[in-house]
Amino acid sequence: MKVAVVGVTGLVGTVMCRVLEERELPISEFIPVASARSVGKTVKFKGQEYTIIGMEDAIAARPDIAIFSAGGSTSLEYAPQFAEVGTTVIDNSSAWRMDPSKKLVVPEINAAELQPEDKIIANPNCSTIQMVMALAPLHRAFGIKRIVVSTYQSFTGTGMKAVKQYQLEKKGYEPKAEEMAYHYPIFENCLPHCDVFLDNSYTKEEMKLVNETRKILNDDSIGVTATAVRVPVDGGHSESVNVEFRQPFDIEEVYRLLRETPGITIQDDLGNNHYPMPRFAKDQDDVFVGRIRRDESVANGLNLWIVADNLRKGAATNAVQIAEYLYQHKAAGA
Ligand code: A2P
Repeated sequence: MKVAVVGVTGLVGTVMCRVLEERELPISEFIPVASARSVGKTVKFKGQEYTIIGMEDAIAARPDIAIFSAGGSTSLEYAPQFAEVGTTVIDNSSAWRMDPSKKLVVPEINAAELQPEDKIIANPNCSTIQMVMALAPLHRAFGIKRIVVSTYQSFTGTGMKAVKQYQLEKKGYEPKAEEMAYHYPIFENCLPHCDVFLDNSYTKEEMKLVNETRKILNDDSIGVTATAVRVPVDGGHSESVNVEFRQPFDIEEVYRLLRETPGITIQDDLGNNHYPMPRFAKDQDDVFVGRIRRDESVANGLNLWIVADNLRKGAATNAVQIAEYLYQHKAAGA
């Protein structure tokens, strides 16, 4: 397959290349793409140097698949142009996720919905992916009535500028206004403010958790309320998730369902202080679930602690898995 990575110099783009190198997707031509600032520079892929090209040249190259991670406005402008020449776009931005004509895909849950005519496929938000990975099998078994989620999200989810802000602050420098990705220092701080505030007083990130969860689980009756917090963690999102089911459940059945779900690893051995942590989820493709316990304050309630590498399963790995599914099902390029 001819595969373009759009936004190849970015944080997600860089991890995208690593994941593509590690996995089995056969790539006949690798096409690295970024903004005019980076055209002509080189990137390494599978031990070889490749020259970065711009959007127009990338469209002219007619890749089979273009994996985008270059921001929402870039996706809105260029994804349709790639689709027009026959490329299947897998888009990591929020631009197309809630468009009713576009599929929002976590391969383990709903890749079977994909059809060859889906030319723009949306990759969900990082914090949504790891939550629905754990909740989808439980929803099928017991029916989710309501979710209360609080996130502890790494600054790497904001991109390169946030990483630089954190690094400067950690070294004791005060970043200049134009070097700040956030309104406040992120080092030794927690910001209850991920993405922009909306008219309903929630942030856009919080509403992504609400709306994307319902779309992926294909059930608008699920109540979801979220508080998203940016924390000074160098990679890896954590989530405290409280779920209320419609039906009674057996806690052993919860363990069994999660154990049998591909892509989930249970880390829950309290005697040995074993539970998921972002530090140990780094560079891993799985979603880690622990602190599994009944919510004793309500009927049919469950508490979970869910951790994943936000740049891997939360972004790059999920996108590459979509590409693999398309290849295996001859839905793009093959
Ligand atoms: P560049 O490095 O040339 O600016 P991050 O989210 O980590 O900041 O990365 C954003 C990525 O999106 C970068 O690779 C950036 O390229 C790329 N990008 C931003 N704007 C465009 C654009 N208009 N066309 C192509 N790539 C873009």
